[in-house]
Amino acid sequence: IFATLKEVLEAARAGKYAVGAFNINDMEIAKAIGGAAKEEKSPVILAVSPSAIKYAGIEYIYEIARVTADKSGVPTVLHLDHGTTFNDCVQCIRHGWSSVMFDGSKLPLEENIKQTADIVRIAHAAGVSVEAELGKLAGVEGHVSVAEKDAIFTNPDEAKMFVERTGVDALAVAIGTSHGAYKFKGEATLDFPRLEKIEKLVNIPIVLHGASGVPKDVLDKAAKYGAKLPGAAGVPNDAIKQAISLGVAKINIDTDIRLALTAAIRQVLAEHPEEFDPRKIFGPAEDAMKAVAKGKMQLFGSSGKA
Ligand code: G3H
Ligand code: 13P
Ligand code: ZN
Repeated sequence: IFATLKEVLEAARAGKYAVGAFNINDMEIAKAIGGAAKEEKSPVILAVSPSAIKYAGIEYIYEIARVTADKSGVPTVLHLDHGTTFNDCVQCIRHGWSSVMFDGSKLPLEENIKQTADIVRIAHAAGVSVEAELGKLAGVEGHVSVAEKDAIFTNPDEAKMFVERTGVDALAVAIGTSHGAYKFKGEATLDFPRLEKIEKLVNIPIVLHGASGVPKDVLDKAAKYGAKLPGAAGVPNDAIKQAISLGVAKINIDTDIRLALTAAIRQVLAEHPEEFDPRKIFGPAEDAMKAVAKGKMQLFGSSGKA
């Protein structure tokens, strides 16, 4: 039913485009992403975090993803996002995921290598792909010195060794992005020279986490209807394009979908205080999320590649 991360990303890398990995928590988000992929004729990655599994229940979220893939008819990867334990990964492998991320980025390097390699052995035996992470995706404030960058961001030589010793299928790197809606104070800067070095040394697809754009129109709409998100800022579209040109083949988006949902629900509730039919509340949110996802597929160049 599901494509593997490896096959989808190898095609993206060869074709110099990136595939979006969109976090799903429920049916509405999944339908929005699957509907966007179908209309765009784009391969897609449905990303499920351990906390999404806890929220939805593993059987529910698996079936939602299965139906989403079936209905969209495009290559769809069911991927564990940020598994942090052996059990997180094995649970998803057993339940039919086609890809897992083991995030050992907070572990000492040797421990990250050891645990990632263990998971690769098991996952590959089951035909499941593995993404791993090296470097810290911590929020970086303002101007960062070279010494600070070396302490936080992915070291290119370590990345080469990490990939060789673990056998992972894709590598998430830290080059200045961070999760959530508050990525930059002041100008957005990513360490592209570092990304270029990593790409030259590492022979597998590179993954960019924390890649939401936090667009102004969505922020303005949310604020108009009561949201309070002062200082929210994301990765500009130009930076995303440059990252793709330098070898990024998987781009993770959660925040932009969350913001679209929040703004749409706020608008319905503010404009129709008499409304209490959930379908009238969630429906517009699904449409708004779908529009955002379609825009990402166009930006990433994955439209028309399914
Ligand atoms: O990187 C984390 C993703 O945005 C998922 O977040 O753990 O709240 O589901 P979550
Ligand atoms: P954003 O918070 O920028 O959407 O990043 C999501 C992510 O990296 C999920 O793994
Ligand atoms: Zn992430």
